[in-house]
Amino acid sequence: MKTIDELLAEGVVGKRVFVRADLNVPLAGTEITDDGRIRAVQPTIAKLAEAGARVIVASHLGRPKGAPDPAFSLAPAAKRLGELLGSDVAFATDTVGSSAKETVAALADGQVAVIENLRFNAGETSKDDAERGAFADQLAELADLYVGDGFGAVHRKHASVFDLPARLPHAAGYLIATEVGVLKKLTAEVKRPYVVVLGGAKVSDKLAVIDQLLGKADRILIGGGMAYTFLYAKGYEVGISLLQKDQVDVVKEYMARAEKNGVELVLPVDILASSEFPDLKGKTPADFITVDADKIPADKEGLDIGPKTRELYASKIADAETVFWNGPVGVFEHPDYAGGTSAIAQALVDSNAFTVVGGGDSAAAVRTLGFDENAFGHISTGGGASLEYLEGKTLPGLAALEV
Ligand code: 3PG
Repeated sequence: MKTIDELLAEGVVGKRVFVRADLNVPLAGTEITDDGRIRAVQPTIAKLAEAGARVIVASHLGRPKGAPDPAFSLAPAAKRLGELLGSDVAFATDTVGSSAKETVAALADGQVAVIENLRFNAGETSKDDAERGAFADQLAELADLYVGDGFGAVHRKHASVFDLPARLPHAAGYLIATEVGVLKKLTAEVKRPYVVVLGGAKVSDKLAVIDQLLGKADRILIGGGMAYTFLYAKGYEVGISLLQKDQVDVVKEYMARAEKNGVELVLPVDILASSEFPDLKGKTPADFITVDADKIPADKEGLDIGPKTRELYASKIADAETVFWNGPVGVFEHPDYAGGTSAIAQALVDSNAFTVVGGGDSAAAVRTLGFDENAFGHISTGGGASLEYLEGKTLPGLAALEV
């Protein structure tokens, strides 16, 4: 994979460089609630601009349906990027139309522009190779060179991620290089004990990675909504908790395989349970009880791991050499159910292990709960992407940069 430093060494002055970033940041209206992904790609953009390139930054945001939708505009992200760079960032109100063409043509050496959400064009995510290719052809006309640095989207076979690099000389940006370097440490060179904490709502999203980890990890600690399918598979009643009954057989097979392989698969021993989902907007105090994991009342749902589980999980993390954590272990968006996720974050901070926080919700949780990002070994910008890497899948956006 060619690095951005090699590209810079060849000279980029006056060259139009298309940077595929992942600026898919959480928004409340037009307010960015976590700018981590913009900060993560900033070094690549800044370096190209300093070197005299005309930088065109492109990304998706959310999942618009292949047509312009103001709710998913990248304008707030472009504004934030300008603040971080300390320079004016131009903004094109379309992807390959007259605004994009004019904005790019007006760029001077060292200037940066952001074009509008790539998913406003149906070609970006199309399953049809020709439709995706046609959009990639149009994007290619905007630029001379391509830098792939949208790690969070490398698992997507999308026009700007997969097809465009085949049409332009290309290199990997600093963020992708860092992310891949870290994930390699979790696969080929892992230091043991290797502890994995998996949370999040749906067990079905995590099955493939658990399947892989049963041959790699020493301990797997389960939390979040997915834990209830495991508890149910163990024979416990889980009340009205999240439950994927169609996954129970697979989960049982995983539990048996863990035992056979000597992998500790650790489940919650106590739970905070309530008869209602908390008010995430007004954050009115929640009404919950703390119960042992085998005593969840029929009319209640589990919403966080309890105090005994927090202690147990912290003790399982304490002597680790490597920790990978993906997915909150409770409804951390409400303060009454943030304690479990906070306890996991704290255990990572307290351990001497190399700690990696998988992207998406857990990365946002760490930041919104007030933890110092520098206290972790690495906070990934890619949730799905890092999981698919650990599953051993070929990621289209990385494969395209390797050719
Ligand atoms: C993410 O948020 O995980 C990435 O930006 C990818 O987004 P997507 O799941 O909508 O493709």
